[in-house]
Amino acid sequence: MKFQNTGFSRRLATCFAALSLFVSVLAASVPINASWREPVRGKNAMVVADQEIASKVGVEILKKGGNAVDAAIAVGLALAVVFPEAGNIGGGGFMMIRTKDGAAHAIDYREMAPGAASRDIYVDKNGKLITGEGSSLIGYRASGVPGTLAGFEIAFKKYGSGKLTWRELVEPARLLAVKGFRLESWQAGDLGSPRSVLAKNDESKRIFQNNGKYLAEGDLLAQPELAQTLGRVQRLGAREFYSGLTAKMIAADMKAHNGLITLDDLKNYQAKERTPLIGNYRGHQIITMPPPSSGGVVILQILNMLEAYDVRAMEYNSAAKYQVMTEAMRRGFADRAVYMGDPDFFAFPVAPLIDKKYAEKRGATIDLVKATPSSTIGPGEVPGYESMQTTNYTVVDSAGNIVVNTYTLNNGFGSGVTIKGTGILMNNEMDDFAAQPGKPNGFGLIQGERNSVQPRKRPLSSMTPTIVLRKDGTPWFGLGAQGGPTIISAILQGIVNVIDHQMNIQQAIDAPRIHHQWYPDQILYEPFGISPDTKKLLESYGQKFVGRPQYFAGATAIMIGEDGVRLGAEDSRSPGAAVGY
Ligand code: GLY
Repeated sequence: MKFQNTGFSRRLATCFAALSLFVSVLAASVPINASWREPVRGKNAMVVADQEIASKVGVEILKKGGNAVDAAIAVGLALAVVFPEAGNIGGGGFMMIRTKDGAAHAIDYREMAPGAASRDIYVDKNGKLITGEGSSLIGYRASGVPGTLAGFEIAFKKYGSGKLTWRELVEPARLLAVKGFRLESWQAGDLGSPRSVLAKNDESKRIFQNNGKYLAEGDLLAQPELAQTLGRVQRLGAREFYSGLTAKMIAADMKAHNGLITLDDLKNYQAKERTPLIGNYRGHQIITMPPPSSGGVVILQILNMLEAYDVRAMEYNSAAKYQVMTEAMRRGFADRAVYMGDPDFFAFPVAPLIDKKYAEKRGATIDLVKATPSSTIGPGEVPGYESMQTTNYTVVDSAGNIVVNTYTLNNGFGSGVTIKGTGILMNNEMDDFAAQPGKPNGFGLIQGERNSVQPRKRPLSSMTPTIVLRKDGTPWFGLGAQGGPTIISAILQGIVNVIDHQMNIQQAIDAPRIHHQWYPDQILYEPFGISPDTKKLLESYGQKFVGRPQYFAGATAIMIGEDGVRLGAEDSRSPGAAVGY
């Protein structure tokens, strides 16, 4: 995972070590929480993002009279400058909005496959997956048509306050690109690696790696080409990216490097509004992302299966709870592989999959003391597991509008390609398709024919911005996460931690998690997150664990307290900050 070798992760490890010592001294009846950290309080409003500078941009917009949607747009554009690992205008994502009047809206601005893409485009003539340049992971052919600006345009026009102009929302990001920002140590570490994909592309190496004379903590990173691009988008609107000079520059650079995206692809890109998925867990309405996110469906399926158990009584990280949760995850992810893909290409059985009756039937095969091998649930192979990077941010304004936005370049810094003269880092989202249906992608996820590459199709995603209501129907908390498929287990366990374990929102996202995704047939776990006794017990049930624990999925969340105070939580696994007022 991205922060593993940085000062940030060392601090994190020390903190978890101290915490686990403290916890082990306490009586066993005390619920085991990863943290007693309190969330950040804001009387009026709150923004939580993976880069503090971006959270502050959001607060500025709110203080100027913008609503949560205005702030979310400005934060997203600022992150494209100050968090190039995942913040972007060259990628895509999902925005979940719940307005103060109770209406929910889901904006899908996921990337689309270029028109020239086809099912076997990432397979060589010997039937082997292409690696390196030309693959679905690295270089010009790895990018889907970006959706971020088209998505933000819909959000602005339909759900913005109308009090601030588009120009005002773009300005903070443009200024950050012009003036530059000072790098923290973790980010200098991210940028300054000769092994990074950034090193493989001349333009990326020049801008982000200072041509190999890496930037250090405290150095200024300015991005003049990106500032000019943002200036054009600011003056001419989001469509400039899709049909103006920027579009022409993207298409020309793609053509010069055997890339796939053409001017036509950009002109034809469309962000879409989808009907949010609504489920219910122990009387709480869960509003979450529909396909092409797989996350909403899988989370609701798993929650439905968990409802049959008294998870609270099982206690936080008992073998009993992890057995049930692992088995529910295994079944949910298996369905993901078989059924899910772009809903514009396949009739998708969403309603039956999230039906409580289906969960009853699916969950009935769960054995409390015996693992169900994934091979008996469906076919697959054991793949490797790669790093992941996405970013989520959450905004609640003073009126009670909530926005949870997850967007991404896929892997950290995406395909590594910066389009010449534009400063735009491009995604490698084509890897979220099943390049070889039935075989694992970069996240180790196995996916079926429904998620095969087809021109103008959207790849399946795990990004799952989610909003949970109190039993009386008032908004309670919004949360989302980065981290590939571990997004799904992060959101799931965040919800369970609040509803079943009654944690505060900060504890709920900090607490150690597990992750099982059907294949590989193994439980991922976090350092200090599971006791050796619990692990042994689960192994005696037949559960397998990865050799080494690893941190995953950083989340951001905001809860609205009963007194109306906004409670912001930035995951201790990721950088960034909750900023409220
Ligand atoms: N690129 C990660 C996801 O969409 O799930």
